[in-house]
Amino acid sequence: MDIVEAQPLWQPDPGWLNTASYGLPPRPGWEAVQAALVGWRAGRTPWEVWDLETQRARESFARLVGVDAADVAVGAQVSQLLAPVAAAIPDGASVIVPEEEFASNLFPWLVHADRGVRVSTVPASEVADAVKPGTDVVAFSLVQSATGEVAAYSDIVTAARNVGALVVVDATQACGWLPFDAALADVVAVVAYKWLMSPRGTGFAYLGPEVRERIRPIAAGWYAGEDVHTSYYGPPLRLARSARRFDISPAWLSWVGTAPALELVEDIGVDAIGAHNVALANRFLAGLGQPSRDSAIVTVDVPGAEERLAAAGVRAAVRAGRVRASFHVYTSDRDVDLALDALVG
Ligand SMILES: Cc1ncc(COP(=O)(O)O)c(C=O)c1O
Repeated sequence: MDIVEAQPLWQPDPGWLNTASYGLPPRPGWEAVQAALVGWRAGRTPWEVWDLETQRARESFARLVGVDAADVAVGAQVSQLLAPVAAAIPDGASVIVPEEEFASNLFPWLVHADRGVRVSTVPASEVADAVKPGTDVVAFSLVQSATGEVAAYSDIVTAARNVGALVVVDATQACGWLPFDAALADVVAVVAYKWLMSPRGTGFAYLGPEVRERIRPIAAGWYAGEDVHTSYYGPPLRLARSARRFDISPAWLSWVGTAPALELVEDIGVDAIGAHNVALANRFLAGLGQPSRDSAIVTVDVPGAEERLAAAGVRAAVRAGRVRASFHVYTSDRDVDLALDALVG
């Protein structure tokens, strides 16, 4: 399906430039959730039916980022998905994180300060250079949520491999518009409510087979069992051999809205979505007299932006006077023009 064919599947009010905060559901995801709500209210649907959607979403995510579904765990949010990884690094480990990093890939490391884990922050553009012998972990977002800066993924991976450091990526602001190979990293966490246009409460972690050997599944419950349905009660511990041992039990209704959204992203194609998004972002920048940046998220300084955008009904994030605008598959030239008229006119 191409973008023009797909766009009627969304119904945004004009001026939604804030997918970096949350994405809007496509019709198949929206309708699936509505049907699930009806079944829930009447007690008509066995939970096992909703649960099938979790596996369906896991498989779609694995295809989107080029890994085996057996290497993907499901969870609810980024810091939860990364917490077992951080808990597994040795006492006194040295971790590098960009100084702009969103807290969900920073706090999980900082909470280990009492056992000597040291976190150094450097500008996002300097992460690869900061990796030195003695670095144990390099943790960063593929696309920074505050600025839209795209990380030098392969340079960082090369630097990390040279010193044997673990590579931990938060691809939440990338997955769905920026093609990338998750298997280059050791760990990649993604929550689906932004660029994967799903309800809040669903996320994935690629956990490579080698790294899994080093991580204790500290949140394991029945859903992490090898056979989920015979894992409800009693010992022994019988965890899944695959990355499912890191699963937490799923927020059913959210997963119902996640699987169709991911499959639609696959159907349209991440390359096509990325090209569309970046073209709109660059058009927005050009309208403000600024050069292209080739990211779906851009930030600009415009005096009085908050009031001007609000008056025009444009919803973008404004923080400390900076406008963060983000552009996705359902964004159109009209949305960009609305914002430019408000900011430049
Ligand atoms: C880069 C990034 N990661 C993660 C999140 C969400 O974090 P969590 O899933 O831990 O709530 C956000 C939200 O803005 C984000 O920008």
